[in-house]
Amino acid sequence: MLPRHATAVASPNIALIKYWGNTDDALRLPVSPSISFNLAELQTRTSVTWDSSLTADHVVINGHPVTGPALERVAHHLDHIRALAEHAGFARVDSANNFPTGTGIASSASAFAALSLAATSALEMTLPERELSALARLGSGSASRSIPDGFVAWYTGEDHASSFAESFAPTTHWSLVDLIAVVSQEHKSTGSTAGHRIAPTSPLQAARIATAQERFECCRDAVLGRDFAALAEVVELDNNVMHGVMMTSTPPLLYWEPLTLNLIKLVRQWREEDGLAVCYTIDAGPNVHCICTAQAAAEVENRLRALPGILDLRRATPGAGAHLVSTPTDPA
Ligand code: DP6
Repeated sequence: MLPRHATAVASPNIALIKYWGNTDDALRLPVSPSISFNLAELQTRTSVTWDSSLTADHVVINGHPVTGPALERVAHHLDHIRALAEHAGFARVDSANNFPTGTGIASSASAFAALSLAATSALEMTLPERELSALARLGSGSASRSIPDGFVAWYTGEDHASSFAESFAPTTHWSLVDLIAVVSQEHKSTGSTAGHRIAPTSPLQAARIATAQERFECCRDAVLGRDFAALAEVVELDNNVMHGVMMTSTPPLLYWEPLTLNLIKLVRQWREEDGLAVCYTIDAGPNVHCICTAQAAAEVENRLRALPGILDLRRATPGAGAHLVSTPTDPA
């Protein structure tokens, strides 16, 4: 039988309201809803070929064959797709990011979104967007949000089928810019998967969960109304609540570097004293995402470039969800 092949592209996303902690770790059912937008300029491109001559899954990331836990995580995700498609074969996966892996920009969201779309399409399965988003969630929770376009909400849901992400405003709705200040290129010591598992050990997680829906609705309203002042307030609050949980977990997760805190203070100062429409949010690492309006972006970028210690600065704007692409090497 001829190998069956497809290529998909997906972007990572930045959460304005964060995902941290699950009610079911195996299914990645989150304790609270989250909101994000895809980062258009950053992309993962993944080709999947189901090949009956293979005796195991074969995975290449950024040109290097992977083994160990990284291979197991991809193979486990392919198991979900094999089960769904009632397909017994193995696949060759070739995935590459257009952003350097060392920049500390999480790639699991774009990786599992692109993998889910390419692997199902290669088996000629056309899943409705909600099902594709739920499937991507099994690989990495935040990958569910890289499937739809534009501004995206991921609902908590009660079970596998109801925990999916969907778009609530198109990409063109609000021309926000994410200026990512790369503070460290070191590999983080505790990844998100381990972090989600210990979130319940924090005495603050119950309070975070109890107030999460309110922040989610407030953020969605701020995005829909293009109200930057309201957005900044809720994005920073939600970020601080999540990092409060991280810092008070057992063991504590301290992702910030001194420069992270300096940037937090500067961003607030630029907004409150200089009137610049910018706010900060930080994932499971030290890098600072400076979310600003298109009007403020050039000035914020100049100020960030003038600061010592920032290793790299990336600019990203709201982008499309996962989509298929044709490649010259696609079989006819
Ligand atoms: C802090 O989606 O990376 O970036 O499901 O284990 O892959 P896994 O976790 P992941 O967690 C993201 C955590 C976060 C916040 C967010 O993006 O919402």
